[in-house]
Amino acid sequence: MKKLIAGNWKMNGSLAANEVLLAGIKAGLATVESPCDVAVCIPGIYMPQVQTLLANSGVAWGAQDVSAHESGAYTGETSGAMLREFACRYALVGHSERRQYHGESDAAVAAKAQRALAFGITPIVCVGESLAERESGETMTVVKRQLAAVIHAVGHCVSEVVVAYEPVWAIGTGRTASPEQAQEVHAVLRAQLVAASTRGQGPRILYGGSMNAANAADLLGQPDIDGGLIGGASLKVPDFLSIIAAASLIR
Ligand code: 13P
Repeated sequence: MKKLIAGNWKMNGSLAANEVLLAGIKAGLATVESPCDVAVCIPGIYMPQVQTLLANSGVAWGAQDVSAHESGAYTGETSGAMLREFACRYALVGHSERRQYHGESDAAVAAKAQRALAFGITPIVCVGESLAERESGETMTVVKRQLAAVIHAVGHCVSEVVVAYEPVWAIGTGRTASPEQAQEVHAVLRAQLVAASTRGQGPRILYGGSMNAANAADLLGQPDIDGGLIGGASLKVPDFLSIIAAASLIR
C-alpha cells in the first residue's frame, strides 16, 4: 500500500506564503521517484487558490473540518457539497484541537465522517489520547471508543476513510511517540478496522504528532503505520519533502 503524507496547515498561511510553499513542494515532488500519495489540509478560505495552484500536480488538497449537516442555518460551517465544488479530496474530522476547543463529541465527529463520505470526500478521522489518559493506562480504551463511534455511523464504508492516530501529548510539543508506542496503538486500530471493513487490510492509518524529517523513516517503517499527518513540518518545504522522500522509499 502506498503511504499517504498529509500536511495539516492548521490556522497558518497567507496568499503569498501558500504560493511559495506549494511551489516548493511541487518542484521537490517532481524529483522524487514514484512518490507516495501527498495532500495538504488547508484553511478553507484558501480552497480556490490552492485548487488553482495544485491543479494537475499530483498533490491533493483537503479541508480541516466539514459540517455534519447538508445545508441551512449553521452559521460559520462549510458543507461537503461546497468543498466538493473545489475538488477537495479530504477533510480532517475530529482533530484533537476541534475536540478540545470546540467540544466535538465522538458522535459529532462520526456524523461529520458520514457526511463527508456522502459527498465523496475522504474523511481523515483523528483519534488520540491525552497525556492524563495515557498515564492512567486508558490509551486503548479511548482510541477504540473514538473509532467505534465512526464505525457505528458509517458501517462497511469504513474501508473508505483514512484514520489518523494523533496522541494529544505529541502534537506540537516536539515529543513524538516512539515507533513502538505508535505501532502498538496502530495494531489495535488495525484489528478494529479489519473486523469492521469489507476490504482486507482496512483503511490507511496515519501517525501524527511531531513527525519530522529526523523521525519519519523510523515511524513509517512500522508495519501498521501507513503514512503521516504532519503539522509544523508541513509548513517548511525541506522538512515536508524529506518526510515525503522517506515515505516514498517504504512500501
Ligand atoms: P505537529 O506535527 O505540529 O505536532 O502537529 C500534528 C498534528 O496535529 C497534525 O494534525
